[in-house]
Amino acid sequence: MSNMKIVDLAPVLLLYSTLVAPAQSDSELLPYVFEPLPVGSIKPRGWLHDTLRAMGDGLPGNMAEFYVYVSNSTWVGRGYQYTPIAEGASYWFNYIVPLAYGLDDERLKGQVKWFVDYVVDHIPEDGWVGPPLPDGGHDLWGRFPFMLGLTQLLEADPSYVSRVLPVMFRFQEIMNGMLHDNNRGYSGWGAARGHDMMMTTQWLLEHHPEGQKQLLVDNLWMLKAGAFDWSQFFSKAMFPKGNLDMLPDAGIPFEFVHVVNLGQALKWSGVVRRFTHDDTLIQTAWDSVNWTFTYHGSAASAIVGDERIAGTSPSRGAELCGVVETMHSLSYLFKTIGNKAFADRCEATAFNSLTVMTTADHWAHQYVSLTNLPFSHRLPETPFWNVNDVGVTYGLEPHFAELTRSKPCCTTNHPQGFPKFVSNMFVKVGRSGLGHALLGPGSVTATLFRDNTVTIDCETTYPFGSTLFYTINAKKTMYFLLRVPEWALPSSFIREGTSPPSLLTPNKKTGMHLLKIAPGRTLLTYTLHSALRIESRPRDTVAVHLGPLLYALEIQALVSSQPARAWNDNRHKLPDSHLVPQVLDYAMHNASAWAVAIDPSTITIVRGDEQLPLPNPVWTPGGPPGWMEVVGCEIEWGIERGVPAEPPLKGQRRCTAPPRKWRLVPYGSAKIHIAEFPTVELGAESVSEDTEYVGLKEGPQVPLREEKYDL
Ligand SMILES: *[C@@H]1O[C@H](CO)[C@@H](O)[C@H](O)[C@H]1NC(C)=O
Ligand SMILES: *[C@@H]1O[C@H](CO)[C@@H](O)[C@H](O)[C@H]1NC(C)=O
Ligand SMILES: *[C@@H]1O[C@H](CO)[C@@H](O)[C@H](O)[C@H]1NC(C)=O
Repeated sequence: MSNMKIVDLAPVLLLYSTLVAPAQSDSELLPYVFEPLPVGSIKPRGWLHDTLRAMGDGLPGNMAEFYVYVSNSTWVGRGYQYTPIAEGASYWFNYIVPLAYGLDDERLKGQVKWFVDYVVDHIPEDGWVGPPLPDGGHDLWGRFPFMLGLTQLLEADPSYVSRVLPVMFRFQEIMNGMLHDNNRGYSGWGAARGHDMMMTTQWLLEHHPEGQKQLLVDNLWMLKAGAFDWSQFFSKAMFPKGNLDMLPDAGIPFEFVHVVNLGQALKWSGVVRRFTHDDTLIQTAWDSVNWTFTYHGSAASAIVGDERIAGTSPSRGAELCGVVETMHSLSYLFKTIGNKAFADRCEATAFNSLTVMTTADHWAHQYVSLTNLPFSHRLPETPFWNVNDVGVTYGLEPHFAELTRSKPCCTTNHPQGFPKFVSNMFVKVGRSGLGHALLGPGSVTATLFRDNTVTIDCETTYPFGSTLFYTINAKKTMYFLLRVPEWALPSSFIREGTSPPSLLTPNKKTGMHLLKIAPGRTLLTYTLHSALRIESRPRDTVAVHLGPLLYALEIQALVSSQPARAWNDNRHKLPDSHLVPQVLDYAMHNASAWAVAIDPSTITIVRGDEQLPLPNPVWTPGGPPGWMEVVGCEIEWGIERGVPAEPPLKGQRRCTAPPRKWRLVPYGSAKIHIAEFPTVELGAESVSEDTEYVGLKEGPQVPLREEKYDL
């Protein structure tokens, strides 16, 4: 093919020989292994579009209208903030940009403009961005999410550049002065999360250095020098290998063991290595993820921590803010370090832990979820380190915790999860390649080397279905890289048009399968086969996985709702002026048994119809097309400190009722669930062939609207 000559293969080949792109002597920053594409160039399709649409129509797209910490926040000259460091509206901005531009929604873009206009038009004499502390002082942290939002905005809509860039540079100068003034305003959350500001600073270096390279590079080094050094925490000497409640106090600073900080800090090594060029951080990145999930990870791929990390127990909480920060870190590590395990885990966290923690209409969310949580209501007592008695309920701000006086940060921070997942689905590889990094339905438009305009459109019901259908339009030859998850069986295949299928040969480290795509239109079918995976969990329990999905016992729910309560007074309804009618707090009670042990050898998989469009919403009871059946029996399994006790040990699992078949469904759809199971040996013969499945048969349950469920 003659046009082979004009394609620049070098970067792709280089990538495949060294995998970690080399430092270029004239560049301050190591290049990405997989480069991000501009926000807005990737659009969600299928269930991901439905999810972002529901977010746009639900709480995330309406906070600017009524949620006082956004609509009437100190950032827009009104009085509301839930903390003097003014992070609430800043968090909001960090997600509303990718949500608005991912959906291409004019109403949401209007919210972005409203906020930017106000902030930019009200920069005071001293150049500070956003509200100062009540005493007039300056604290850096509250600006970090806003700055990340601005980087996304300038990619999505460059018409903002001329107004916004001077504000960003002025802030870089002010920050430089503060950092050189003994790290004034850079402590606590700021110093624990300094890498978030390093990301913005690196973005400026790469996209708009404007002759200010020295200032930016100095800020990178100063931010690092004043930060909590996470490489110290991610060392054999310090990293806590168990539940801190059980370990002697090792004097580890709280900032290191705070679950949201830890989720955010998983990207530390990737961010810092980009400018220090310190390759020992590759191992640190790997250890940080491995140890975090080995010693503090849940079966749903969340970090277990009810404010403070808490081991691997299914009876302890995983915080929603921690979930979305973990996803963001993992997708960043995949782009900078390139190990496939980071992307696999990012999908698992997204499809299991993120989906389960919001209602399908995206008006309510949990603060913490437990892998074994067969009800979701005000708890009579709690097992948590520092989360209150409504932390497991779905609501507007189910957040209050006495000790750290934790605030409704998750309300404004959690919606970054799926919009940023979408922004990270596709990546640029070298000069002539595009990759599908996080799998799911979506499309991308990009211009590659020598003006090669490419669009890739992926239709799929993945992660429910196993086939991804691609339509690629390329002006010239290009390279397309498909991520092959670790769990994919060798029988998985790719097929171009009507040609015979070929097996996959993914790169060992990145998991990417490389395809050369000819100019014109190309149709690809990518089919992933997965086997049932029974994961051993502590105390002789198991978790059941198929592909990236965790499966949970289907439990019938009795749902009731009431107008929302406030984070700092959850006994009384918020005033009407702080609410819209859709905002409700929910209570969910189990209406079927949950204390069940299963025999994993009896699991049968019932696959849904892959051709059907998925129901909308899909992450709701009765939504997903497939399920599993398993033989199990009820056992004695008590409640301890308000939630299911640790699963009974092997000798204590006596059936209290005859064995029968139970249904397992995708965890994200099962708002109340058991997913870390005690096992029993029963055998398929223990139930007769025609034993009817008992349980939830109808589609999505309609919540009962009852006021005052719990008072
Ligand atoms: C929010 O601000 C608007 C406009 O200033 C005002 O009308 C409204 O009463 C404020 N809401 C609350 C709850 O203070
Ligand atoms: C993860 O960490 C554990 C404990 O340090 C170690 O034994 C194991 O080899 C690590 N796994 C990988 C894949 O590096
Ligand atoms: C719900 O769970 C409780 C234990 O928490 C159990 O006693 C009760 O029987 C369950 N409800 C139903 C309807 O099975």
